[in-house]
Amino acid sequence: MKHILIVSKDTVLKEQLTRVIDPTKTQLDMAESLSSAMSLSTEMQYDAALVVVNRYDSRAAEFLTEFLDQNPQTMLMPVSPNVAVEHVLDAMRRGAADFIHQPVTAEEIVTRISKCIESRRMKREIDFLRHTQPHIYRFDDIVGVSAPMKKVFSLLRKVAPTDATVLIMGETGTGKELIAGAIHFNSPRAKNSFVKVNCAALPENLLESELFGHEKGAFTGAHRQRVGRFEQADAGTIFLDEIGDMGASTQAKILRVLQEHQFERLGGTQTIDVDVRVIAATNKDLTTLMNSGQFREDLFYRLNVVTIELAPLRERREDIGPLVTFFLKKYAAQINNRVESVSTPGMKMLEEYHWPGNIRQLQNVIERAVIMCEGTKVLPEHIALYDKASPKKKEIVEIPEDGVKLVDVERQLIVQALERTGWVQKNAAKLLGMSPRVINYKIRKHRIKRPDL
Ligand SMILES: Nc1ncnc2c1ncn2[C@@H]1O[C@H](COP(=O)(O)OP(=O)(O)OP(=O)(O)O)[C@@H](O)[C@H]1O
Ligand SMILES: [Mg+2]
Repeated sequence: MKHILIVSKDTVLKEQLTRVIDPTKTQLDMAESLSSAMSLSTEMQYDAALVVVNRYDSRAAEFLTEFLDQNPQTMLMPVSPNVAVEHVLDAMRRGAADFIHQPVTAEEIVTRISKCIESRRMKREIDFLRHTQPHIYRFDDIVGVSAPMKKVFSLLRKVAPTDATVLIMGETGTGKELIAGAIHFNSPRAKNSFVKVNCAALPENLLESELFGHEKGAFTGAHRQRVGRFEQADAGTIFLDEIGDMGASTQAKILRVLQEHQFERLGGTQTIDVDVRVIAATNKDLTTLMNSGQFREDLFYRLNVVTIELAPLRERREDIGPLVTFFLKKYAAQINNRVESVSTPGMKMLEEYHWPGNIRQLQNVIERAVIMCEGTKVLPEHIALYDKASPKKKEIVEIPEDGVKLVDVERQLIVQALERTGWVQKNAAKLLGMSPRVINYKIRKHRIKRPDL
């Protein structure tokens, strides 16, 4: 929804514009005087303000300065039947976005407002891109042949073209950010900003200022007004990463943006309207957080319109091979062109490993292997898998503090095997990996007897 303020003594311009705008997309507000325009603008951030003056005089000029000082995001445009070049120059110097010379058609005014709003959006985007590394996400760069990944692809194709909020869940390194980017860049919003915010990286008050911006003087150190990430993402997508780490106050504000598409900057009274698609991700179990009261239930249901679950790599081992090929090709091209493939024992290592760091870890392992590799094939010695990070392998039997006699363990295991197999010696032997002849010998040695005989 766009908000346009018309500052005029009569309703002529408003009536003209009402005929050509779509009221579901644009709201027109009227202020009859300059002072009421000032006070209206404390409540709503206007995208554009048209100031109708019979003559551009010093009062109009001062109003421009004062209004833009308080509302630097608004496209201010004087409208007047009497325009001289020096008026236009003065207005532009004060920060006006355009100067409209009457008579003019309503259609032309609407076109000029749209152009100004678009150029502001582009400026925001350029500001934003200057601070980030643009990275293009394509469906083709998502590798996966396993059943869970096929499900993800089919969901992606359905959800990307819509505006639906998406919640992506998965362990670290499973591709949450990649999927979020692919949704944005395959949506109608692709040409607008994709803004990423890591909710776990900042303490709550800083996170709120990052997300919603702040007014000058909102807190100690707020020397200037700051436009938040939600505003930067207007018409685009915001990716809220690690959403499970957000505090209660931020959760409440995000909920409001999702419901009403509105918020205020910290320390501000103006309501800001945005059109932002939200994609959230977490590696935490939100249901557990919800049950312990750390995550709002209403927010969970708002976010959870479409859920994409990314399985850990160890649960989709068919993807390891294609991923290895994909990363090998990528890093060979970047680092060492001679490397062509992974040797059979090397591949076996990769396929059997449990990948606690998932695809990011696999990617790093391949990058290192390509660096280390001297020939055309990656050998096991080029592959560094950290077993320290692996969960402790469950011991089959654990030695008690004060030790144990091996014969007792052997006896116990044979009894257990016999009980489990209904005392069929042949089957019990199989369970323990020994021949029927050996088990028979040991049963006699340990004097094991079936209790009910
Ligand atoms: N299916 C995939 N195909 C190709 N590359 C992938 C795939 N999944 C993940 N990657 C790559 O693995 C790396 C980690 O992915 P990403 O950053 O999206 O994971 P994440 O789930 O956001 O991790 P974290 O929870 O640690 O933030 C990235 O370089 C990404 O490009
Ligand atoms: Mg991530």
